Amino acid sequence: MIFLDSSDPKEIQDISAWGIIAGVTTNPLIIAKEAGNVDLEKRIREVLAVSKGHVSVELTTETEAEMLAEADRYIAWSPGRVCIKVPFSETGMRVLHQLATRGVPTNVTCLMSFNQAYLASLAGATYVSIFSGRVQDMGYDVRPIIEETRLILDREGLASQIIVGSIRHLMDVNEALQSGAHILTVTPPILRKMLWNPRTDETIREFNTAWAKRGG
Ligand code: E4P
Repeated sequence: MIFLDSSDPKEIQDISAWGIIAGVTTNPLIIAKEAGNVDLEKRIREVLAVSKGHVSVELTTETEAEMLAEADRYIAWSPGRVCIKVPFSETGMRVLHQLATRGVPTNVTCLMSFNQAYLASLAGATYVSIFSGRVQDMGYDVRPIIEETRLILDREGLASQIIVGSIRHLMDVNEALQSGAHILTVTPPILRKMLWNPRTDETIREFNTAWAKRGG
């Protein structure tokens, strides 16, 4: 499955028309880059209106009480569709467990290791987000992290789904899927790279030119 890693309603609407987008992930950095000082509620409501499936909205506070209050504010925008993105930490684990116990969809984010993904899955995360590009920035191979996580989820019958995010190259897409990711979250530019091939364009041009020039 593919999620869109974006908060841009126009891009989300355009790409949703391809029929391949099962959900949306946002984060504070994406929203700040795409929309600056936008009102978060307005932006997320716009995203909800043009998408389907879960829309992940990330917590930005850092104490347990603040995070739970922040989560409740976001959930109210569309219960069942807003998925609370919980940054992974000890406090995050407590928040995650409480939200999961209430049946709130959760996406545990900023995961860099198998151990972290395993703990988040045990606590009831709907999604565990492994950050491919950022793991590779540290000089590690992300494939065994995804493979080991998928293995333990399947072996222990844990319900979490692995999202691989922080995708920077097409090879990251291929490797994540081959390693057992359930879902990829990709930015619009990566998605457009997935569909583009110069030989395809050239071939279509050749066919259409021949058709236009045909005699009779
Ligand atoms: C995933 O949910 C995140 O939004 C995202 O993929 C983070 O990636 P980055 O390394 O591009 O910030």
